Amino acid sequence: MALAAEHLIAGALVAFPTETVYGLGADATNSQAVARIYQVKGRPSDHPLIVHIACMDRMGDWASEIPEYAIKLARDFWPGPMTLVLKRSEIAQDFITGSQDTVGVRVPDHGVALALLEAFEKAGGKGIAAPSANRFGHVSPTSATAVLEELGTYLTHEDLVLDGGACAVGVESTIIDCTGELPIILRPGGITVEMIKDSTGVRDLGTSLNEIRVSGSLENHYAPLATVLLCETPTAGQGFIAHANIQTPPGVIRLASPHDDEEFARILYSALRQADAQGLSEVVVVQPIGIGIAVAIRDRLARAANGR
Ligand code: TXA
Ligand code: MG
Repeated sequence: MALAAEHLIAGALVAFPTETVYGLGADATNSQAVARIYQVKGRPSDHPLIVHIACMDRMGDWASEIPEYAIKLARDFWPGPMTLVLKRSEIAQDFITGSQDTVGVRVPDHGVALALLEAFEKAGGKGIAAPSANRFGHVSPTSATAVLEELGTYLTHEDLVLDGGACAVGVESTIIDCTGELPIILRPGGITVEMIKDSTGVRDLGTSLNEIRVSGSLENHYAPLATVLLCETPTAGQGFIAHANIQTPPGVIRLASPHDDEEFARILYSALRQADAQGLSEVVVVQPIGIGIAVAIRDRLARAANGR
């Protein structure tokens, strides 16, 4: 971890596991290191990055205003799959925020990520900027192997990939805009509407009127090469992802059979990658119904399918 922290301080990239997906990390105060994130991902430079911190006490370094409800959320759900968007401080510069006056911060819940963040802090670092470690628009990686498949050819020998096994949650963090009177969900994830209401005592969350740029909110995102189909019965030769109690029709290639919604979220991205690895041209997915993490799964699937 000390070595990885040194690499970050020197301006290299370090991909690391979190409980959601793998992130591609850089020193969030180093404009050149952050510029490399954009290069390696092939991501438009006006899309803001999430700053990862070791504990909630560091929030005040990056944010200039923290409403009461954001403190409640941080206490209840960090470390965890939640990103808070707050009014930025002066260390959150334009190259992190996409020139907006807000910054996204998160304390990830993974032993390797937290150890890296602590080592980085000890070495003088303030926070690690990390988008998901995939090429822009692709499926996020939930294993170190997937990171290498996505980005291997774009990394240099100064960069590192830390292997912390498969991610436990499997879909990206819930992003909550905390700049207004009420919290607003910008991207659904492992921390659900119900959990946010319970934690903050807010009965109805706000709705988004402004045009905050969330690249994950683009319509075509999280997409494998294979065409994702959501409302069809699979036919021979197509890939198939559905709850375990749904049978596989003859000739259909079953990619995953999760037993509950948590498992569905955990295996979804690796199953979509599997479809590409097997050269399948179409994957039919039966979406989970109901609330909780199923909302995040449907959100990602809708974007992966892009209307189909
Ligand atoms: O679970 C996660 O959040 C993962 C892990 C690595 O922490 N990270 C992740 O980062 O998903 P990324 O960059 O792939 O997606 C973060 C989203 C982007 O769509 C970005 O536009 C949005 O967060 N975002 C970041 N800062 C923001 C801000 N200040 N205001 C609005 N959206 C913001
Ligand atoms: Mg992403």
